[in-house]
Amino acid sequence: MSLRLQINLLLAIVIVAFTGAFLAFQLIDTKRSVREETEAANRVATHLLGYFVNTYAQTSTPIVLEQLERLGRVRSNEITLRDDAGNEVYHSPPATYKQGRNAPGWYSALVWPPPMKSEMRFYDSTLTIEANPSRAVLDGWDDTVTLLEFGAFVFVLGNALVFWLVRRSTQPFRVIERGLADVERGAFHTRLPPLAGAEAGQIALAFNRMAAAVEENLHARADAADARLRLAQSRELADVVQSRIEEERANIARELHDETGQNLTAIRSLALSLARREGDEATRETSQLIADTAAKLYAAMHELIPRLRPLTLDTFELAEAATERVAEWRRLHPEIAFSLEVGALPEHLGESYTLAAYRILQEAVTNALRHADARNVAIRLGADAGALAIDIVDDGRGLAQDWERPGHFGVRGMRERARALGGEVEIANRAEGGTRVEARLPLQ
Ligand SMILES: Nc1ncnc2c1ncn2[C@@H]1O[C@H](COP(=O)(O)OP(=O)(O)OP(=O)(O)O)[C@@H](O)[C@H]1O
Ligand SMILES: [Mg+2]
Repeated sequence: MSLRLQINLLLAIVIVAFTGAFLAFQLIDTKRSVREETEAANRVATHLLGYFVNTYAQTSTPIVLEQLERLGRVRSNEITLRDDAGNEVYHSPPATYKQGRNAPGWYSALVWPPPMKSEMRFYDSTLTIEANPSRAVLDGWDDTVTLLEFGAFVFVLGNALVFWLVRRSTQPFRVIERGLADVERGAFHTRLPPLAGAEAGQIALAFNRMAAAVEENLHARADAADARLRLAQSRELADVVQSRIEEERANIARELHDETGQNLTAIRSLALSLARREGDEATRETSQLIADTAAKLYAAMHELIPRLRPLTLDTFELAEAATERVAEWRRLHPEIAFSLEVGALPEHLGESYTLAAYRILQEAVTNALRHADARNVAIRLGADAGALAIDIVDDGRGLAQDWERPGHFGVRGMRERARALGGEVEIANRAEGGTRVEARLPLQ
């Protein structure tokens, strides 16, 4: 049921109840006043006619008749004279007040007072005085009709007024309803115009604030989704680039080893055989120099190969590759004490894990060698709680305040490698001095 109908119904009930109560009171009042008025009129008539009877008691009917006709109607009383044979010889004239009209029977039955009648004897006739309250009852009925008409007028006018008023004051809610429907359909740019009425105005302002917040939120979400997509795409690209680099490094390492290594060996062999041959001293010395240079070049190249791609990774597992690399560092940096601890590792880690772990280890130790000025570097490899763990600890000067400044890619590269496998790298200063790098790569 609409609000308008509810209010109209309520008003109608109130008006009908009020009018009904008023009518009931009026009915009770009319009944009392009709009774009082009729009684008074009857008393007056009886009193008056009492004198009349005393005067004309011994007089014959024609004289009484003449006197009665001269008296006429005495207020609301019916005066009748009958001779001794019971024939009506006189009846007072009918009332001229509201002549020809009467209250409806049911109404008269409600307010009609008890009958009041008195009789008086003359010489040869009987006089009857009987109260007739029909005029008083009609007055009451006319008042009731006036009241009913007024009630009906108020009913119609009040309802029409309320109908119009409610319609006018609920007009803005239809605008709000349309706005909500628009938002429901996804038109989040919908805004309501300023609405008439304090409440509707407040609701419109709140609606506009809500719509703006929702729209902003949606934009923010779309932007975030976009940024996530771009990040995922750039990670994918970084992965591809990384793997291409690894591939290329492996190719160069193989080329160096197989091609350049073979050729250097060949040059060295040729130079050595030339040096051993009979000839002049200068040629022998030059040949020996070529052989020595080729040997040095070969040794330098051999040092370069594991940096490009540890060949052991192709044939052995992470532990062997790490052991070999650490031996190399020990040889190159005799002033630093390296320790390597390898815990239980899964039997076959797979290339991506082995390579990621090896590169993280390599970058962390290289950083310690380049930046830390450390005396000890401790490396631990192991697997626990379903993850491959790589720990590199040094006792150097620790990370500087601005260690994360742009233009340095080692730590970022470590993190990218770990994240590609769903893992993380943490790098922090140790309380006792130096730096700790901890990488965890969850194993599927
Ligand atoms: N073990 C360490 N001890 C002290 N400082 C360190 C250590 N490891 C890293 N840092 C600091 O963190 C910075 C960032 O390291 P990161 O490996 O990202 O870059 P980089 O080594 O300077 O350059 P590259 O991009 O060649 O790796 C370093 O410049 C250095 O200041
Ligand atoms: Mg670095």
